[in-house]
Amino acid sequence: RPRIVVASEAGACYGVERALELVREAARGSEGPLYTLGPLIHNPQVVASLEEDGVGVVEDPGQAAGATLVLRTHGVTPATERAAREAGAAVIDATCPYVKKAHLAAERLSEEGYQVVIVGEKGHPEVEGTLGHAPGALVVADAAELDGARVGRRVGVVVQTTQTRACLRAVVDRLLDLAEEVRVVNTICDATTERQRAAAKLALEADVVIVIGGRISANTTHLAEICSERCPATHHIETPEELEAGWFEGASLVGVTAGASTPHEQIEAVASAIARLCDGVGE
Ligand code: F3S
Repeated sequence: RPRIVVASEAGACYGVERALELVREAARGSEGPLYTLGPLIHNPQVVASLEEDGVGVVEDPGQAAGATLVLRTHGVTPATERAAREAGAAVIDATCPYVKKAHLAAERLSEEGYQVVIVGEKGHPEVEGTLGHAPGALVVADAAELDGARVGRRVGVVVQTTQTRACLRAVVDRLLDLAEEVRVVNTICDATTERQRAAAKLALEADVVIVIGGRISANTTHLAEICSERCPATHHIETPEELEAGWFEGASLVGVTAGASTPHEQIEAVASAIARLCDGVGE
């Protein structure tokens, strides 16, 4: 049977594992209703299993009156957190510490009189949270968006955790032409790039690659693209049931990787399912 190798960096990152742990712990100990504000992660299987443990999802803090409300890894604006507390909810803050660092950096820069520039995707919950900590900040996705923009003399830059260094460099380079002082707090988290690098390396060697993760998860879809460019026999799946024995015929190395919202036990379940299929068990 082929060798099955899981990429050296794959699956749930530190922030997601931590958030899952916090929610599971709360579910074990909680008396009253327990909700997450929005789905905890982009992973339908995990959200469904949390639901079985009694963890519901609300979209508005007002719906969690008298309950325990978990804030997701993306973080929220101070106004949302306030609304949750005012509604009488007990708040569990599962904001990833790296996201928190970006939020606090934006707040500090703004207090110190810098015009804050956030490098990131407008409308993304994490960026909205950062914006809430530095009202009036400018959000730019790339350097081109600064064309024609008027910025202050002193500019403070923070970055959405999933952005690339190349993008940050290009924005900072452009800002150097526009402002007198540019202060940069690098709030990029390397988890995403590390997963992409490990997946690319594995896909070059593998005959077949299995990418696990939600179809609606942007980072998983991107991982699948990176892999299929290097290994055409790449398959993006959400659950082990989607695996087909035919995919592995004649393969000597099967690579497995997963997006940041895939917990490690799901990766192990898929790796064992591949092994069983290749051994002809259950056919
Ligand atoms: Fe946190 Fe980085 Fe994950 S910011 S949630 S550890 S991708």
